Amino acid sequence: MNHFIAVSDFTTDQLRHFLDVAKRLKKQLKETGRNDPILAGKVLAMIFEKPSLRTRVSFDVGVAQLGGSGMYIKGEEIGWGKREPVKDVARVIASMADGIMARTFEHEKVVELAKYSKVPVINGLTDFNHPCQAMADILTVEEKFGKLSGLTMAFIGDGNNVARSLASTCGRLGVRFILASPAGFEFSRDDADQMMAKVPELDFVTESDPREAVREADVVVTDTWVSMGQEAEKEQRIKQFAGFQVDDKLLAHAPKHAVVLHCLPAYRGLEISDEVMESPRSLVFQEAENRLHAQKGIMAVLMGGM
Ligand code: CP
Ligand code: NVA
Repeated sequence: MNHFIAVSDFTTDQLRHFLDVAKRLKKQLKETGRNDPILAGKVLAMIFEKPSLRTRVSFDVGVAQLGGSGMYIKGEEIGWGKREPVKDVARVIASMADGIMARTFEHEKVVELAKYSKVPVINGLTDFNHPCQAMADILTVEEKFGKLSGLTMAFIGDGNNVARSLASTCGRLGVRFILASPAGFEFSRDDADQMMAKVPELDFVTESDPREAVREADVVVTDTWVSMGQEAEKEQRIKQFAGFQVDDKLLAHAPKHAVVLHCLPAYRGLEISDEVMESPRSLVFQEAENRLHAQKGIMAVLMGGM
């Protein structure tokens, strides 16, 4: 597998390898202040159709720390799918750069890019999934608990791109996944069926009551109720998600040791309270930093042959 499009494309052993390389690189960076230049002279082209802070900074810094460089390309500027087809963009960039990271609205665009690119394509978020985020999240959970297998993760809120990738990642790595969403915001029947076909080992439970969902959770996760591209639905969604905020009241139903993750950006007072964001059980900034380390693991394996 040359591309990183979905976590479910990889076996448990392959995911373990990405995570182990990420941990080795993180340790080396923390201990020595630098990494071996395993991507020396290599260029990662980074195409963004949507805004970003973490994805852009972590890929740009990550490839530089490995001795290569990143090139930012605005989706609108190249007009892919409009000025020229995605398959032509793929072949042109792949003839010059050594890897492509893309953040798109339609998932099919990243799939098409990978189909026509001879260099690795890494999915930096689509409307469908966010696999790099899931890898950073699971790395954070492993750092916290020293293990993954046997843990329970409860995702409270929208059954969105972040939730889909987390569910598959949990399945591959032995973490039980509970999704608590308001009616209509669970995984669609199709998505759930496809996920279970690809990751049959996933222990997946849906819950309508967030208090029930967190009762046995080691990790409580949430994400925005209004993903990029859904801004027009904002007011309506805020009403529909009432009662699903991750706050102290909800966490009173969780085990004392439960930690909280959020991929960020967070909307305090909506999906998460300010108190929880700033509390000792919040690992959100360690999680954000781990985007850097997790993606260096992915780049080192796919672009650096590690
Ligand atoms: N979590 C995440 O992907 O953040 P950005 O949208 O800022 O990249
Ligand atoms: N679900 C969010 C994640 C942002 C990183 C979105 O797609 O906007």
